[in-house]
Amino acid sequence: MTTLAGRTLVTGGCGFIGSHFIRGHLQAHPRREVVNLDLLTYAGNPDNLADMAGDPRYRFVHGDVSDAEAVGRAMAGCDTVVHFAAESHVDRSLLDARPFVRTNVEGTAVLLAAAREAGVQRFLHMSTDEVYGDIPAPRTSVEEDPLQPRSPYAAAKAGAELLCRAYVQSYGLPVLVVRCSNVYGANQFPEKLIPLFVTNALAGRPLPVYGDGLQQRDWTAVEDACAAIELVLERGEPGAAYNVTAENVRLNIEVVRRLLAVLGRPESLIAHVADRPGHDLRYAMSAARIRALGWQPAQVWEEAFPRTVRWYAENPDWCRRARDRAFDDYYTAQYGARG
Ligand code: NAD
Ligand code: TYD
Repeated sequence: MTTLAGRTLVTGGCGFIGSHFIRGHLQAHPRREVVNLDLLTYAGNPDNLADMAGDPRYRFVHGDVSDAEAVGRAMAGCDTVVHFAAESHVDRSLLDARPFVRTNVEGTAVLLAAAREAGVQRFLHMSTDEVYGDIPAPRTSVEEDPLQPRSPYAAAKAGAELLCRAYVQSYGLPVLVVRCSNVYGANQFPEKLIPLFVTNALAGRPLPVYGDGLQQRDWTAVEDACAAIELVLERGEPGAAYNVTAENVRLNIEVVRRLLAVLGRPESLIAHVADRPGHDLRYAMSAARIRALGWQPAQVWEEAFPRTVRWYAENPDWCRRARDRAFDDYYTAQYGARG
């Protein structure tokens, strides 16, 4: 169990989920400190934690999780590690898998070695439902299912998980794995479905739905995901994995139509484009294990989804800063030839 006082190393804390986690972690544990190790890649946004700057319990360290020296320094004095840092976008992994291997696999190996050296009490590794691969209905994945990743992103996340498992077996490192479904909420980089489509719709640009849009994703609110991570840190069994999902499976096209309805924009903005290569049609997990630990989602999709959509509409400066010129180059590379 994470002790009340102490120091938590969070990696990737300037990203979407990490920034929500850090804010909540410091609020929930008034006597803890947080060190945030983040490389500030295109997805890392210091704006996400601007309100933390004056908090003496919070320290930002600019560095790479695959740099053993930087990791060793950042981990000094930490009893807990929460590892979010990753290359996180499937479509980018299909353009170039190498940064995914470097950060997600090598970076995790560096962190595990440093955590062993430092004798940390809790190492929570953030993983994804994508490690299970495509799950045809009506199946739902349970934690003991085999890992069958199908995209370079998912393969790199599965590789990281296997390293975690090896550190549990070989050295007894107290690693906990959280496999989370698709997360939604404020501050998500606008390359992912929901923020991309809100920002496109507001600019009157087409919404590039891959294929027929009949793929299914399982959506969990970021506040619920962070609450589950806290619970696993507190009560999880070292060595175990925990699925985290609101069990809220939706067709992509249904999500897109609802998003346009919330914004009051026409469905004529929907453009069916070439499908993602190897696109997993469906993810769906059972949340029985995390529910048995005492978690249940507090957010309801019917309220939290429109609230999320409106957040992007109401924060145009945040969106403009995220969608810079490098993003335009990415957009052309990703969507230019899709039709
Ligand atoms: P994100 O892309 O928004 O943020 C990633 C963060 O990691 C950024 O701040 C980035 O600067 C940092 N980073 C990247 N490479 C780094 C490196 N080499 N060293 C240090 N920092 C680095 O990601 P997210 O959506 O917040 O996801 C966080 C974690 O949760 C990831 O591990 C991801 O695989 C996992 N996850 C995400 C979702 C989702 O729907 N967003 C679902 C399940 C699991
Ligand atoms: P995404 O947000 O990239 O998350 P993930 O691939 O990790 O699930 O995509 C969610 C779903 O939306 C996925 O089935 C792919 C689809 N999608 C589109 O149809 N068009 C797009 O432009 C994007 C980014 C995603």
